[in-house]
Amino acid sequence: MNVLFIVVDDLRPVLGCYGDKLVKSPNIDQLASQSFVFSNAYAQQAVCAPSRVSFLTGRRPDTTRLYDFYSYWRVHAGNYSTMPQYFKENGYVTLSVGKVFHPGVSSNYSDDYPYSWSIPPFHPSAEKYENDKTCRGKDGKLYANLVCPVDVTEMPSGTLPDIQSTEEAIRLLNVMKTNKQKFFLAVGYHKPHIPLRYPQEFLKLYPLENITLAPDPWVPEKLPSVAYNPWTDIRQRDDVEALNVSFPYGPLPDDFQRQIRQSYYAAVSYLDMQVGLLLNALDDVGLSNSTIVVFTADHGLSEKVVELVSLFSTLAELAGLQVPPVCPKTSFHVALCTEGASIVQYFNTSEEKVEEEKDGCDDPYRCFNEEPVAFSQYPRPADTPQWNSDKPKLKDIRIMGYSMRTIDYRYTVWVQFNPNNFSANFEDVHAGELYMVETDPNQDYNIYNNTSHGCFFKKILGFLKR
Ligand SMILES: *[C@@H]1O[C@H](CO)[C@@H](O)[C@H](O)[C@H]1NC(C)=O
Ligand SMILES: *[C@@H]1O[C@H](CO)[C@@H](O)[C@H](O)[C@H]1NC(C)=O
Ligand SMILES: *[C@@H]1O[C@H](CO)[C@@H](O)[C@H](O)[C@H]1NC(C)=O
Ligand SMILES: *[C@@H]1O[C@H](CO)[C@@H](O)[C@H](O)[C@H]1NC(C)=O
Ligand SMILES: *[C@@H]1O[C@H](CO)[C@@H](O)[C@H](O)[C@H]1NC(C)=O
Repeated sequence: MNVLFIVVDDLRPVLGCYGDKLVKSPNIDQLASQSFVFSNAYAQQAVCAPSRVSFLTGRRPDTTRLYDFYSYWRVHAGNYSTMPQYFKENGYVTLSVGKVFHPGVSSNYSDDYPYSWSIPPFHPSAEKYENDKTCRGKDGKLYANLVCPVDVTEMPSGTLPDIQSTEEAIRLLNVMKTNKQKFFLAVGYHKPHIPLRYPQEFLKLYPLENITLAPDPWVPEKLPSVAYNPWTDIRQRDDVEALNVSFPYGPLPDDFQRQIRQSYYAAVSYLDMQVGLLLNALDDVGLSNSTIVVFTADHGLSEKVVELVSLFSTLAELAGLQVPPVCPKTSFHVALCTEGASIVQYFNTSEEKVEEEKDGCDDPYRCFNEEPVAFSQYPRPADTPQWNSDKPKLKDIRIMGYSMRTIDYRYTVWVQFNPNNFSANFEDVHAGELYMVETDPNQDYNIYNNTSHGCFFKKILGFLKR
């Protein structure tokens, strides 16, 4: 089997196949209709570079020691094999198109070539204009806006990065077909990551009057201040800066909230079209039946709770390769092992079996059963929102939030963290969060302070110290 690994940047489950009623995503929905869809898959850290290095190496951020953008795991943590490297060493041609690894030092300015890839990774030439002033304002001038529907013919080079990536991926599929080579092709799309820069015709799918505000646009009353993200990234765009929104809590004006949501939907439909073109090409070259297609995002997507860190071992098993061993307790010296177990067993679980298991668990506060759990983490520079709260550099990290997610709840503890020796001090808990997601799906009502949560604490500690 070949592997086509599609990774999308900052995609929420705003897709028809995840139940969104407004979005138009026919191509991804069609893929989903023939796929195993995970509705509770979690990234290990919701920041591009740490997330990607985590799932591409099969190790957690505490093992890659990458929480920001500024170190290369092979020199900073351990010389870990990556998923594409493993396929390459097992006879596959491995190819990277677009944003797969995060560019820059976190992949040694080479997307980890030559270790991970058979040929130098492809980057769309239009990528360099992503944050330039290419968005036409009402005054006719060009700005670097957050909300940025464009006339593609007016763009530098007359194209957009994701269009170029699709074209290159299709070209490579044809080469693989002609040469009859077994391949692992990773295609990384930039959208719908901000800026929301996409062909303006997609706006027509979403009239502004049909766009609602978020179901919970306010700051939750009991949210600990350490948990709040002041979205510095968004504030720096010209259109948002002009709104003079107060730091850190905003709010953004309602009509602008609607415009952001409208453009997010439009950017998802634009992405969906690229995915459709790519999958059509896979069909056209006759490789659909012999290719495993993975579609995932870097910031968190059966009922089973799963983790992106399991992708490496799962794909190895699906492709018939030897599954890399589970990492020992400390694994900095071990080149090939993974911290996420293969989840291939779930592909054979019938819906009834899942229901049965759920029925057996009626106590939402149970702690020590074997239900699937996903772990994630997120660093902060301080207890209160700072300009760098969403993306602190390693040296500025003072607090680490560790989260444990099951079908029933999310439990988070924010604990003291020392960036010099990478140690988290669980005796120094700064704040906590507990949400029962069945009754509070948007996680607006933090009940940490009104609940005895000792057994949750023991459980997360048991996992992290194992
Ligand atoms: C790291 O691993 C790669 C292959 O996995 C190997 O070629 C390279 O020599 C190793 N580097 C070091 C410093 O051990
Ligand atoms: C990183 O890239 C540089 C320049 O290409 C190269 O000399 C160096 O060996 C690479 N680092 C590792 C660990 O492979
Ligand atoms: C917008 O909403 C109206 C009223 O609900 C509906 O009839 C129309 O189809 C919607 N338009 C789009 C493009 O979804
Ligand atoms: C921006 O808002 C602050 C108060 O939040 C106000 O003092 C200031 O005058 C405003 N600036 C502009 C340019 O509107
Ligand atoms: C792919 O598999 C399906 C179902 O097994 C079959 O109907 C179809 O003809 C196959 N297509 C190709 C191109 O082999």
